[in-house]
Amino acid sequence: MSTTADKKKIAILTGGGDCPGLNPAIRGVVMKAEQLGYECVGLQEGWKGAILGDAVPLKRDDVDEIIKYGGTILGTSRTNPYKKEGGVEAVKNTFKKLGLHALVAMGGEDTLGVASKLYKQEKLNVVGVPKTMDNDLSATDYTFGFDTSVTIAVDAAERLVDTGRSHRRAMVLEVMGRHAGWVSLFTGVAAAADYICIPERPVDVKEMAAKVKEAHARKKVALVVCSEAVDLGGHGEEKLDEFGHMILKERGVGEKIAKIIEKETGIETRHAVIGHIQRGGAPTLFDRILGTRVGLKAAELVHEGKWGQMAALRGTEVVGVSLEEATGELKTVPAEWFAIMDTLTGSAAAKPSKKAVAAK
Ligand code: F6P
Repeated sequence: MSTTADKKKIAILTGGGDCPGLNPAIRGVVMKAEQLGYECVGLQEGWKGAILGDAVPLKRDDVDEIIKYGGTILGTSRTNPYKKEGGVEAVKNTFKKLGLHALVAMGGEDTLGVASKLYKQEKLNVVGVPKTMDNDLSATDYTFGFDTSVTIAVDAAERLVDTGRSHRRAMVLEVMGRHAGWVSLFTGVAAAADYICIPERPVDVKEMAAKVKEAHARKKVALVVCSEAVDLGGHGEEKLDEFGHMILKERGVGEKIAKIIEKETGIETRHAVIGHIQRGGAPTLFDRILGTRVGLKAAELVHEGKWGQMAALRGTEVVGVSLEEATGELKTVPAEWFAIMDTLTGSAAAKPSKKAVAAK
């Protein structure tokens, strides 16, 4: 029988914004890795833990019940080793110090971008697990976190409609999602919004006002769902995080849209920003299963020595794809969706397509 000392060690980290599904994914890696004869440790708070060598043991018993919990038991951060003096060397030292055979990095384009570079440039044994509530990662059909956060946003939108109808108001819900409009689009469609604003398509103020007026006349309420990244101008210089992303909450898109609607339609309008409420809570069934499946697959990728790959959902299969492909380009809402939006909100015709905005 092999002892702990004989076993190869796999470290797991979760980086970037947390999202429901991370704990099921951690659990999936640990369970499969143990079955394959490995031992796991967790690096705390993303790449920060990889730099500091801050590890905790992760055994089957530690993860058994975490499938139902939101967030990540390992903590997270937006630390970028490539932006820290000696950061990359420190990560390499952690590999040596902890005697790591491999690292499973769970994250979005930022965390996985670092993982991809560490594999390519430093030849570290790294595999990835895609996660993000924004669903904006290429090379995978869905990321866990998206389903839960949109489910929460749909619930919020329906609550807004209840109170809005009582007061005969128009209601605006601002959702997260960064520079991809997936969260706004799916929330708007699923909550039967009367107008949906996404960053990939300029807001047509006249049309939005007309849709709101029309819906309000019919239903005594109107709902607009908008993405935090819609560019209405006038937001001045924006602060950037360590990965160079704009901090979008400062834009105040929901509030601005509510003011525009009130001015254009004369209908009393309120707005709400769902913010981080969207990122918490128990993962949905879909995210529990997807998180589990990609976690299991990541352990298999380690076992097969498929370095520089991540576990991706393609159709109904979970397969290994290159991290480089996944992090090359942001997956934004394609123009085909514009026509669907127009059909569902009763607009005359789809506007000509506009190249997706991938601003960082
Ligand atoms: O990338 C996930 C996300 O929730 C985005 O939708 C949002 O813009 C951002 O993170 C918020 O980041 P933070 O939690 O650092 O405020």
